[in-house]
Amino acid sequence: MAFLADSLARIKPSATIAVADKARALKAAGRDVIGLGSGEPDFDTPDNIKDAAIKAIRDGKTKYTNVDGIPELKAAVARKFEVENGLTYKPSQISVGTGGKQVLYNAFMATLNPGDEVIIPAPYWVSYPEMVLLAGGTPVEVPTTQASGFKLTAETLERAIGPKTKWLLLNSPSNPSGAAYTRAELKALTDVLLRHPHVWVMTDDMYEHLVYDDFVFTTPAQVEPGLFDRTLTVNGVSKAYCMTGWRIGFAGGPEPLIQAMATIQSQSTSNPSSIAQWASVEALNGPKDFIPAHNKVFKERRDLVVSMLNQASGIDCPVPEGAFYVFPSCAGTIGKVAPSGKRIETDQDFVTELLEAEGVAVVQGSAFGHGPNFRISYATATSALQAACERIQRFCGNLK
Ligand SMILES: Cc1ncc(COP(=O)(O)O)c(C=O)c1O
Repeated sequence: MAFLADSLARIKPSATIAVADKARALKAAGRDVIGLGSGEPDFDTPDNIKDAAIKAIRDGKTKYTNVDGIPELKAAVARKFEVENGLTYKPSQISVGTGGKQVLYNAFMATLNPGDEVIIPAPYWVSYPEMVLLAGGTPVEVPTTQASGFKLTAETLERAIGPKTKWLLLNSPSNPSGAAYTRAELKALTDVLLRHPHVWVMTDDMYEHLVYDDFVFTTPAQVEPGLFDRTLTVNGVSKAYCMTGWRIGFAGGPEPLIQAMATIQSQSTSNPSSIAQWASVEALNGPKDFIPAHNKVFKERRDLVVSMLNQASGIDCPVPEGAFYVFPSCAGTIGKVAPSGKRIETDQDFVTELLEAEGVAVVQGSAFGHGPNFRISYATATSALQAACERIQRFCGNLK
């Protein structure tokens, strides 16, 4: 439509939301559908956090706040970075926004000029390239392999850097692969960046707390303090604190960048919800014992799903270090014929036929820039996961 902005033609709607919509439509039509597309914990927000929000309402904390966060929340975020990540940020180096998504978007809006490149290792979270495009930059997708654990290597990074590179965008643990970089793997990347002073690092640590098997999380500015002055460390309460709907994310970074992000936010949304900010103060400062309890369940589910998928013919599922996703390859099903008579040529065909034949909704890997794979979110009831994996096994066994 001619009335719409040209920038809209550059981007596409979220594939993960499209899958959820399709699953919902099939359910509404009476089909028995198991949705494994959603990227949020099935656990409820802990009561102490809810109570803090209710108290904030009762205390009249219901007015506009500082554009990029109340001092109490900035202090809690600074403490979190210090204690959990060994990073010392002043309150003036911290930005709070309406979800990690807005914080990332503000950062791109505040820094990208036409032609500026952002290196995005693939598979990547669906929103990264689209956000870069909306902000007028150029996403440079750099493929990784299942053999390298879906991780960027020093050599590939070195090759991808050019004179126009502005940011390297890292996400560990990753959505969609669940892959997380060890300290040594991160160090190999930060060593490359030390040789390229014009490249900054945006690290999306949203799944920091969701790691299993004694994996130790680290973040680039912690691994290489020499990069502190050109790193934006992004995190939030959505995933670990089961607060996806509250919409609070935050970042630590150099003051001029943080100020520029506040300027963007001041002319778009202003402050994130005052009530959600007070709830987040409690989340960050309050008890955290529910996190290991949730992780125990997530780990059991991950192990169940990986083991059942690897028993499905044509599926190869690596064991991810973190997040609540697995990202198996369906390469072994390509060329086979589904019960509908359709030949499976791509991962898109695989997920469409799986949904048609067995009512299991997963997301095609190509939406995340890597196929033929698909993403399963295991942040759902264990019984539903078991049933879904049985259906996937049956679907794969029935392919001709
Ligand atoms: C990798 C990654 N980054 C950022 C976000 C956004 O988080 P928020 O809900 O806080 O905006 C998500 C949510 O799915 C994510 O998977």
